[in-house]
Amino acid sequence: MGLTTGSSPSIFPEVLSTRNDRNRGPVNNDILLVEKAQRLVRGIATLPTIPAICLRVSTLLDSPTVDLQKVADLILSDQVLTARVVKIVNSPLFRPLHEITSLRHALVYLGLRRINEIVLSCSLIQAFEDGDAGFDLRTFWQHSFGVGIIAGKMAQLLAYPEREKVYVYGLLHNIGKVFLCSYLKPEWARIIRLVEEKGCTFLDAEIKTMGTTHCEIGLCLARQWNFPEEYCHVIAYHHAPANAPRNQLPVALVNLADIFYTTCLGMDEDSGWTSSNLTEEPAWFVMRKSLPALDDFDPERFAFELEEEMPGIRKLVNDLFMG
Ligand SMILES: [Fe+2]
Ligand SMILES: [Fe+2]
Repeated sequence: MGLTTGSSPSIFPEVLSTRNDRNRGPVNNDILLVEKAQRLVRGIATLPTIPAICLRVSTLLDSPTVDLQKVADLILSDQVLTARVVKIVNSPLFRPLHEITSLRHALVYLGLRRINEIVLSCSLIQAFEDGDAGFDLRTFWQHSFGVGIIAGKMAQLLAYPEREKVYVYGLLHNIGKVFLCSYLKPEWARIIRLVEEKGCTFLDAEIKTMGTTHCEIGLCLARQWNFPEEYCHVIAYHHAPANAPRNQLPVALVNLADIFYTTCLGMDEDSGWTSSNLTEEPAWFVMRKSLPALDDFDPERFAFELEEEMPGIRKLVNDLFMG
């Protein structure tokens, strides 16, 4: 479902205000929720792993004298990873003028700062694709890539300096949900039933079913994978940016990107309005404090432009899953 255009109603109608009342939702990172999540994550004997190659690429890129050829050789040792990196670089995310067919050319085009994020994207998909989700994970990755791309675009428009990082945060924000449907299937089925039959919000249904949410589960998984603390922070607070004890801005960017993806583009239900107006969202208040460019940001126009991006995002995810 796309965004309505022309003389159609505003994209921010009052009726959406009751769609997902997360003001009543859990306070993220509550110690009991985290403890419960930790027990659930530790209870899985065979946790998904981030491919070793991803960590080795990160280590190489961290070195002050990084050798691009070494990075290329490492990635080339994994054919699936190589094919995916080339597909991502040719996607609407990067829009090269001419098709890039070699890995080396792709790495030069991307530059060192972006290689890490691309390899991480591919590794995350790889970490879960051997599991049996009993569900088409493409929907999740479409959501995740969509939120990552939108968050990155907002960061650029609003002159937030760390656009690449914000993209990765968006990509990772729902990692707890991917874990949930892959490794905690009975709980997942109960949550979906509660949402569909009782009209619960997803977060409320998670609390009723497990005593925790995908935010805390994602946090525990990210810590298990030794992700940098800033990634863990965004994962934990992506539904409640104003509750984040520090560094609220990137969390707010991901939260708003999530709302744009879910509500404006009519995609799957991960996030939604807490108010009747985008400018009354907690994330908006957080951003107003430190991003002056927000005054010139036109949400309706931005949402309209995003609609054009969706076919590209869907195609990218489909291509990535084809190997
Ligand atoms: Fe979420
Ligand atoms: Fe989301």
